[in-house]
Amino acid sequence: MHKLALAIQKGGTAKTTSTLCLGGALTLLGHRVLLIDLDPQANLTGSLIDKTALEDRPTIHTVLTEDNVRLADTILATDCGIDLVPSSMRLALAEMALITAYNRERRLVNALDELEETAAQSGEGELLYDFVLIDCPPSLGILTVNALAAADYVIVPLQTGQYALEGLNDFLTTISGIKRGKINPHLELLGILLTLVGNNRVSRDVAANVRELMGNKVFKTQISNRAILAETGMKGPIQAYAPNSESAQEYSNLAQEVVNLVSK
Ligand SMILES: Nc1ncnc2c1ncn2[C@@H]1O[C@H](COP(=O)(O)OP(=O)(O)O)[C@@H](O)[C@H]1O
Ligand SMILES: [Mg+2]
Repeated sequence: MHKLALAIQKGGTAKTTSTLCLGGALTLLGHRVLLIDLDPQANLTGSLIDKTALEDRPTIHTVLTEDNVRLADTILATDCGIDLVPSSMRLALAEMALITAYNRERRLVNALDELEETAAQSGEGELLYDFVLIDCPPSLGILTVNALAAADYVIVPLQTGQYALEGLNDFLTTISGIKRGKINPHLELLGILLTLVGNNRVSRDVAANVRELMGNKVFKTQISNRAILAETGMKGPIQAYAPNSESAQEYSNLAQEVVNLVSK
């Protein structure tokens, strides 16, 4: 089970879109994929299921704040073959609830460990995931720390706009801190993903800049700014509603890169 967090402490960098569409592309390559929505805004959840159907069901919020709720009990199968651990607005309360909680940065680690054990013991094939993608909120609070504690790798989506580089260094420092502070010594930056790449000078300059600064830590694949992708919020992964689009192809290329990198 490869665990990947898509994170950076900024909104609008295509974290959620990339979680969804990378998940879709990995599924098409034949992998079992679980997506975890760790953002109280629950955009990922909303694009895969009808949120009103959640009502009394346990969500990631329940797993993080209550003992004895298993991650496995929150998992929902969705139409496109991707499984989801849903979020809800209530997750915003988790930050408060966790302030005094024991082992608060290891809640997701423990939940995923238990999931792996259950899958191994019971031979429950449907719980044997190849990839777990964690969609993070746009902040560096306890939720993102839980994701970085649990992940093997981080993917950092970076919007190639004017202020793209602001915040990147802070985030890379956070990753180093997580490693050095022993929260997760094995955490690795899998790559920086250039997103919303437009056909304009700012976008090209930023992309060139980041490639020069970060070298082979930048994915070769970059995701272009295309109107069709703005619809993923309502329609699920791009592969489900525009399988032959250039955007679907870009995420498919990314998936191939990711598979190659994690199998090294
Ligand atoms: N490649 C793209 N081209 C055009 N619009 C995009 C693209 N990627 C994301 N978007 C749109 O940009 C907005 C922010 O994306 P989102 O994935 O929600 O970012 P984040 O999760 O980092 O806040 C959303 O409205 C989304 O539909
Ligand atoms: Mg998001």
